[in-house]
Amino acid sequence: MKFFTENIDSLRELYVNQLRSMLSAERQITDALPKMIDKSTDQQLRQAFESHFRETEVHVQRLEQILSETANETDDIKCKVLDTMVDETESIVGDIDDGSVRDAALIASGQRVEHFEMASYGTLRNWAQILGESGHAQILNQTLQEEEHADQLLTQISDKVNPSAGSTGKAAAA
Ligand SMILES: [Fe+2]
Ligand SMILES: [Fe+2]
Repeated sequence: MKFFTENIDSLRELYVNQLRSMLSAERQITDALPKMIDKSTDQQLRQAFESHFRETEVHVQRLEQILSETANETDDIKCKVLDTMVDETESIVGDIDDGSVRDAALIASGQRVEHFEMASYGTLRNWAQILGESGHAQILNQTLQEEEHADQLLTQISDKVNPSAGSTGKAAAA
């Protein structure tokens, strides 16, 4: 089975390939977050998405910088994982009328994306270290920490939003 359209014969080539995939992921997140902000009801959730949108724009710039220094180009390779995640989010969110339940769905989608990013940046940081790119490893680590922070913030907000989403169904059934 062929996963890539180009041959990858070294960890450095794999690193560049995955940086380009992550650049596509971050660009897709930049497109998706404004729609998620639009659909959010909870003020704190909206603010969390807004501040992470600004961070995500920086994540794109950091990857462009690393790629231009490593490979002399900033073309991405489409990340199909994010493409599917965004599709799923749009379809589920479009089916929910209740604000709190929709917020719960948005938090769930957001956290799935953050965990995908955390796993990806953890790997990229490790490869950068092995390849002797300590400056890039530091930059990737900074992004990783921002993804972790975004995830923790969403957990905090879910502590308030999810019980409120839970009581919505009960009220309707009563
Ligand atoms: Fe990011
Ligand atoms: Fe993120």
